[in-house]
Amino acid sequence: MNLVLASANKHKVDEIKALLPNGFTVVTMKEAGIHEDIPEPGATIAENSQLKAEYVYQKLKHVFSDLEVIADDSGLEVEVLNGAPGVHSARYAGEAKNDEANNLKLLEALKPHSNRKARFVTIITLQGESTLEQFEGEVKGTIAFAPRGTTGFGYDPLFIPTGYRSTFAELGADIKNSISHRSAAVKRLVEFLKIPH
Ligand code: IMP
Repeated sequence: MNLVLASANKHKVDEIKALLPNGFTVVTMKEAGIHEDIPEPGATIAENSQLKAEYVYQKLKHVFSDLEVIADDSGLEVEVLNGAPGVHSARYAGEAKNDEANNLKLLEALKPHSNRKARFVTIITLQGESTLEQFEGEVKGTIAFAPRGTTGFGYDPLFIPTGYRSTFAELGADIKNSISHRSAAVKRLVEFLKIPH
C-alpha cells in the first residue's frame, strides 16, 4: 500500500508522522508533486476532509499503485459561539489564514461570555480504489484568556485541554500528541489499516 497524506500544513504533517506507528510510512502531497492549495468549499469538516482526499486521490491514482490517500480536516468548535469557528477555523479572521489574527478574533468574540468550553475535532478520510472511510477524534477543553506558549500551531496557544492548566502550546508536542483530537483520529485509522481487507 502507498499511503499519501493530503495536507500541505507542515504542523499537521509532523504530528501525523509522529503519531503513526512503525511500519506506516506516508508520502506527503508535496513529495508526490502536488503543490497547490486544495479547495475546501464544503459546509462541514467531514465534507472538506472527504473533498481533500478525493482531490489528491484523483490526481495520483495513475501515479502510485495500490494508492490510499489520507486527509485531515480539523477545526475548533466553541460552545457559546454555536460551534464557530468550526469549518471556518483556518480563515476565521480572513482569507489570509493568519493564526494570530484568528486567536485575537476568538478572544474578542468570547469577551462577553463566561462559558469558555470548546472542543477540537479532526476527521481523517481514507480513500483508496475501493475504500472510503472516515475516522473522527476530539478533545474537550476551554479557551484561555490570552495566548500562552510557543509550540504547535493555530489555536494551540488558546486551548486548555480538560484536566490541564496549560495550553497545548505550553504543554508541547509529546503531551499534545498523547491526548489530541488528531491522535484519537489517527488511532482509529491505524486500527482500521491493521485489519486485513
Ligand atoms: P484545516 O483542517 O486545514 O482546514 O485547518 C483548520 C484550522 O483549524 C487550522 O488552520 C488551525 O487554525 C486549526 N487547527 C486544526 N488543528 C489544530 C490543532 O491541532 N491545533 C490548533 N489549531 C488547529
